[in-house]
Amino acid sequence: MRLSVVGTGYVGLVAGTCFADGGNHVTCVDKDAAKVDALKSGNVPIYEPGLGEILRRNMKAGRLSFTTDLADAVANSIVIFIAVGTPEADDGSADLSAVLSVAGQVGKHMDGYRIIVTKSTVPVGTHKKVAAAVKAETHHPFDVVSNPEFMKEGAAVDDFTRPDRVVLGTDNPAVVEIMRQLYAPFMRKRDRILFMDPASAEMTKYAANALLATKVSFMNEVANLCERYGADVETVRLGIGSDSRIGHAFLFPGVGYGGSCFPKDVSAFVSTGKDVGYETCITAAVQETNHRQRRAFAGRIIDYFGERAATTTLAVWGLAFKGRTDDVREAPAIDAIRMFVERGMKVRAHDPEAMPNAHRELASDAVSYFDDGYEALADADALVIFTDWPEFRTPDFESVKSRLTKPIIFDGRNLYEPLFMARLGFEYHSVGRKTVSQEAGDH
Ligand SMILES: NC(=O)c1ccc[n+]([C@@H]2O[C@H](COP(=O)([O-])OP(=O)(O)OC[C@H]3O[C@@H](n4cnc5c(N)ncnc54)[C@H](O)[C@@H]3O)[C@@H](O)[C@H]2O)c1
Repeated sequence: MRLSVVGTGYVGLVAGTCFADGGNHVTCVDKDAAKVDALKSGNVPIYEPGLGEILRRNMKAGRLSFTTDLADAVANSIVIFIAVGTPEADDGSADLSAVLSVAGQVGKHMDGYRIIVTKSTVPVGTHKKVAAAVKAETHHPFDVVSNPEFMKEGAAVDDFTRPDRVVLGTDNPAVVEIMRQLYAPFMRKRDRILFMDPASAEMTKYAANALLATKVSFMNEVANLCERYGADVETVRLGIGSDSRIGHAFLFPGVGYGGSCFPKDVSAFVSTGKDVGYETCITAAVQETNHRQRRAFAGRIIDYFGERAATTTLAVWGLAFKGRTDDVREAPAIDAIRMFVERGMKVRAHDPEAMPNAHRELASDAVSYFDDGYEALADADALVIFTDWPEFRTPDFESVKSRLTKPIIFDGRNLYEPLFMARLGFEYHSVGRKTVSQEAGDH
């Protein structure tokens, strides 16, 4: 099949590349000429494990190309995916301007029947707006399909090619067959496509993200209570996760959720409620709890150093919103570093992939960057951990200790065992567990 994917970000680039790998001819379109130029030379502008190799293989096979020319792409494709951003607008709703602008341009350039698939995350009801935007520009027939994406950054290729489910919202049985063919290469073991009406497909995406965010905020609330009562949230997590009705996934307390999806999607979900006069109490509380959690972790570190803040240097491991990605959008680490710098602290930062993006985002002389995580520790007064990159899990603790001025760790991801850390001689602060120091390890 001949397809176009408009928007070559985390979602569009992975989807386009994987569809090409499934044997289709895919044209990826982006308005960012520099990005398109890089892609044309086989360079992937984002960090996503495994993507570069598949991309270059399919370019070589002549199945994958990149352009800024939407008109040409639309003329040569039967199916057009819209995968542009839907950022948070000032009022908390999803900003649909890019999606609707692309829809209008597709309408303008189509010269016959087309299937227009919305892959961007869009609020319930958007399929009607997309259809109206296309219709305003064309007299040719078309179908609009809602196909929200559930991939996780850092595992996006795997998620796309081995999805838990593919959600497709359409009322037209003829379109069902075409979409089924398109996703067939990723359904080898068993069919995991869920067809539904477009509004339900749009709602499914928001409901999924709102529920996942709820789990995170709920566990953060449990962790905060554990801290105050001397309980250990890690054992509580195992205790509740073992219940098959609850399960272990997504029950990790930490520094609050971030990234390019949860914050804006939770906000848009609340906003869609307001649009119809319905107060989404749970989701609004999830959002509030998350704001509190994000500030609380950084606040605790600032309070710890108190008057000494202006002469304190912190080493920070992890700058993206989670491990295995370079994406710093709404990353808790970025907000926290801003708070540290405001208090006069110096920051020595390390992240395996996100340093260029963090550097651009923070643009601060008080933050220096180190390719080697151990170098970042030199003469720092504490190590602060924000993400769970595998290489942070089992560092050379002796080396960590010898480089810090005092062996103090603030771990926002509960990567280590408190008693083990105490035995190693660390003062170890984590989330929802007792703070331990060397004396605790001696007992
Ligand atoms: N990032 C994720 O993990 C993820 C997962 C699931 C769903 N989503 C959703 O997918 C959508 C895209 O997210 P993303 O993270 O890939 O975004 P992104 O910001 O990484 O990429 C968007 C791309 O679209 C391009 N673009 C914007 N307007 C355009 C236009 N008019 N014409 C052509 N190109 C245009 C931008 O230049 C950019 O390259 C969002 O709605 C997001 O919520 C993202």
